[in-house]
Amino acid sequence: MDNKNGISEYPNTAAIIRQLDDLIKQPIYTIKPEALTAYEQQYYEKKCAKSKAMIQEAVHVIPGGVQHNLAFNHPFPLVFTKAEGAYLYDIDGNQYYDFLQAGGPTVLGSNPIHVRSKVIELLNDCGPSTGLFHEYEYKLAKKIADHIESVEMFRMLGSGTEACMAAIRVARLATKKKHIIKMGGAYHGWSDQLAYGIRIPGSKWTQAHGVPRHMFKYTQEFYPGDLKDLERKLRFNRLRGGTAAVLIEPVGPESGTRPLEFDFNKGVEELCRKYGALLVFDEVVTAFRIGMSGAQGYFGVSPDLTVFGKVVAGGYPGAGGLGGKKQYMKYLSAGLGSGDKHKRALVGGTMAANPLSCVAGYYTLDEMERTNAVQRAGIMGDKLTSGLKALIEKHKLPFVAFNQGSICHLETVGTLHYAIDWSKPWRIPGVLKATSERKKEMEHMGAAYMAEGIVTLAGSRLYTSAAYTDEMIDDVLVRFDRVFGQVAIKA
Ligand SMILES: Cc1ncc(COP(=O)(O)O)c(C=O)c1O
Repeated sequence: MDNKNGISEYPNTAAIIRQLDDLIKQPIYTIKPEALTAYEQQYYEKKCAKSKAMIQEAVHVIPGGVQHNLAFNHPFPLVFTKAEGAYLYDIDGNQYYDFLQAGGPTVLGSNPIHVRSKVIELLNDCGPSTGLFHEYEYKLAKKIADHIESVEMFRMLGSGTEACMAAIRVARLATKKKHIIKMGGAYHGWSDQLAYGIRIPGSKWTQAHGVPRHMFKYTQEFYPGDLKDLERKLRFNRLRGGTAAVLIEPVGPESGTRPLEFDFNKGVEELCRKYGALLVFDEVVTAFRIGMSGAQGYFGVSPDLTVFGKVVAGGYPGAGGLGGKKQYMKYLSAGLGSGDKHKRALVGGTMAANPLSCVAGYYTLDEMERTNAVQRAGIMGDKLTSGLKALIEKHKLPFVAFNQGSICHLETVGTLHYAIDWSKPWRIPGVLKATSERKKEMEHMGAAYMAEGIVTLAGSRLYTSAAYTDEMIDDVLVRFDRVFGQVAIKA
């Protein structure tokens, strides 16, 4: 493995898909009710009293009691007050191993001193924002362009959601075509036209509550990993306005929860060239986690546009941006522009590209380069995953563990492995019922992990960071062993 990539060996996708297919045919295996009750009473009630009290108050002023979709957990959310390296601490003083990693951005681990001290220096000098140009806007853009070959220019925005929106506008201006195609199940933020086919492939608009159906007039999804289905849609669109962009999460929908064959991205690139659509890689999770040259460097693909988020601000706010070839990025020109006469996409954001996000992003990438963080985080991901596989075997469970470097998946119920097939509409209610029942059990497993001092992403994904050590992962596996030892078929 060179120092650019975090994946030591690409997972055997076909074998994983087979295992996931089997998993959803099995009854639900989950934490035994008496074990869950014991965690609730012995851990949450006794050791998390301050969290409980705060959430009981917060629920009166914050809808649902928390501000973040990933923060909710059974039986109540915990309040975190300290983050350091691989550890998190709650308001009651309990310590946890952090595999949520703020949802992905902290590849270096939480709150690294090297980044923090530069942020404090900047705050002392100019504060977080001025609304004017700052040297770190340039430095961050240059660093990203130096690492990622297809990125000649970069424009910082406020979030991954905004960057996906900008990508679509640029693609439409550049190609003068209308349709956008995404992979079923993939998440590209929560903007209106991309709230389509999210989580469950084939779910179309059904998860997009609050979005009028006509918003999806030009949005389509194709079945994950299915190049034939993608080509069918590209061909069909030729007759009705053309396809402006194909958006891809390069390791697969939901950060690779449904993994793709290694050659898939190359196939999408060829189809985009054939049909004149721009290839947009959504590297919000993968850029600077899969490799310093992005997932595109790893897969050897050259997208037209790349969406960034998370790591580009190193866990600080304002993490988003769009990068790509000059001929497309010109549509985002602000200020002096490029000299050409052309329309400019409408983008904005008072707080986008503020000095705080840019300095944090710059020194995060700088420190990652210096310490080879992507590779170190990937090695920890490998160790965690192989340990989980051994435990699954030991306890004879149908669970599936796999990883793409530091993105680790532990599928206990396979909620995201379902798909909706509209040619068999009578099956749809059953799929929705099964996924919601399974999701509940995933939350119960997540509650058990949390009580054992392990913070996961929704009970099924674990991001590792460069702050982990072999000893920590060994300790984490002992805790997983305890949870797996209390699992049985749901009665
Ligand atoms: C692949 C992908 N794209 C886009 C987004 C949206 O980014 P943000 O939460 O910064 O809006 C996310 C967020 O998790 C993501 O995982």
